[in-house]
Amino acid sequence: MQILLRLLRPHLPVLILGLVLGLISNAANLAAPLATKRIIDTLGTGDALAGPITLLLVLVVIGAVIGLWQWILMGTLAEQVVLDARLSVIQRYFRARLAELTGRPTGELVTRVTADPGLLHQASSSIVGLINASLAFIATLVLMGTLDVVLLLCTLAAVAIVGAVMAVLLPTISKAQKAAQDAVGDLGGELEGTLRAMRTVKASRAEDRQGGRIEADARRAAAHNVRAARRAAWVWTVSWSGVSLAVIAVLGVGAWRADAGLLEVSSLIAFLLYAFQLMGPIGELTQNVTALQSGIAAARRISEVYAMESETSTPTPGSRVPDAPVLAVRNVTLRYTEEGPAALDDVSLTIPSRGHTAVVGPSGAGKTSLFSLLLRFLDPGSGEITLHGRPYRSLTHSEIRGELAYVEQEAPVVPGTIRENILFSHPRPPTANWRRC
Ligand SMILES: Nc1ncnc2c1ncn2[C@@H]1O[C@H](COP(=O)(O)OP(=O)(O)OP(=O)(O)O)[C@@H](O)[C@H]1O
Ligand SMILES: [Mg+2]
Repeated sequence: MQILLRLLRPHLPVLILGLVLGLISNAANLAAPLATKRIIDTLGTGDALAGPITLLLVLVVIGAVIGLWQWILMGTLAEQVVLDARLSVIQRYFRARLAELTGRPTGELVTRVTADPGLLHQASSSIVGLINASLAFIATLVLMGTLDVVLLLCTLAAVAIVGAVMAVLLPTISKAQKAAQDAVGDLGGELEGTLRAMRTVKASRAEDRQGGRIEADARRAAAHNVRAARRAAWVWTVSWSGVSLAVIAVLGVGAWRADAGLLEVSSLIAFLLYAFQLMGPIGELTQNVTALQSGIAAARRISEVYAMESETSTPTPGSRVPDAPVLAVRNVTLRYTEEGPAALDDVSLTIPSRGHTAVVGPSGAGKTSLFSLLLRFLDPGSGEITLHGRPYRSLTHSEIRGELAYVEQEAPVVPGTIRENILFSHPRPPTANWRRC
C-alpha cells in the first residue's frame, strides 16, 4: 500500500481533481431521482412541466460531461503511473549490483517490468473510485432515508447480506490474484532460462519435459485466476441479487404503504430509482477493492526491486600515478558467501601497461572471479586493486569499466537444480544395461 501511495504521490493534484469531478458527477446522478419526483408531483397540479424536465436534462448532461472528463483524466493518470513504475524498475535494474540481478531468474525480473506495473493501471484510480463510491453509497442511503425510513430498513437488510458476502470473498480474490502473479513470475523465469539453453534442451531431447514444467506454471496462473474470476462472479451475482431483492421488497412494502396513504407514489418511484442506483456504487466498490488489492500485490513485487542494492561509488578526485601498472592487485581475498571457502585467497599480481598477461588455471581456479573483481562486478573482502595507481575505492564503477574491455565466458544454465543440470541428458537413473557398457 505504501509503495502504491509513493507511486501516486506525484499525481496528487490530478487525483484530487478526479475525486472532485467524480463527486460532482455523482451528485448530478443522485439529484436525478429527486428531480423525477418533482416532475411526478407536478402532475395534476396544473403547474408547468418544462421547468422540472429542463432541470432533469441539465442534471443528465452535467453528469455525463463531468463523468467523461473524469474518466479520461483517470485513464491518463493510470497510464502515467504504469509508465513511472516501469521506468523506475528499469532504472533500478541497470544501477543494481550485479549480484542482485544474477541471483534471480532473468525472466522473473522481466515480469516485474512488463506484467506487474500493468496491474497498477486499475489500482491507480481505484483509491479515487473507492472514496467516490463510498460517498455515493452513503449519500444514496441518506437520500433514501429522507424519502422513507421503513423502506430504507428493507434496503439496509439486503445491503447487509451483500456486505457480508463481500467481506468473506474479496480477501480470497486478492489472495488468488497474488498467487497468479507469482506463478506468472515463475513462468517468465523458467521460460527465459530455457529459451537461452534451447540448444542443450534439444540436444538432450528434453523439449517435452522442459516444456511441461513451463506449461505447469501457466496452468497454475490460470487456475488461480479462474478461482479469482469465480469468486468475483459470486460477488457480482450476490450483489445484483441483493439489490434486486431490495427493489422487490421496496416495491411490495412501498405499494402497501402508499395504499395505506403513508407514502406518496412519487416518493416510492424516487425511492425505487435510488434502489436501482445502489448497484452503481456497490459494483464500483467491488471492482475498486479488487483492483486495489491486485495493485497492492503488484506494488509489493515492484518494491522488492526497490530494495535491491545499487552500485554506489563515491568518486574522489585524484590523478594517475605516472609509471604505475595499469592494474595492480594486492593481497585480494574474495568469498561468495560469508562462511564459504575463499574463491580468491591472498592474490597479488600486476598488469603492466605494455605486453600481454595471461591468467591460466584449472577450472574453478578463480579466473572469472578475478575478472569480476577487476571489472568491479564484486568488491573484494580484503586487499586492494588499483587502476593506474588509483585505488578502486576512489573511482566510480564507470571510470573503471571505461578503461577495460571484457569478453564474458558464456555458460548457459537450464532453470532447475544443479543435479537436473548435470543430469540434463539422462534425467532417469541409469539402467542395468547402461551400467554394463
Ligand atoms: N557465483 C558464485 N557463487 C558461489 N561460488 C562461486 C560463484 N562463482 C564462482 N564460485 C566459486 O569460486 C571458485 C572460483 O570460480 P571461478 O568461476 O572464478 O573459476 P574459473 O577459474 O573462472 O573457472 P572456469 O575455468 O571453469 O571458468 C570456484 O570454487 C567456484 O565454485
Ligand atoms: Mg570462468
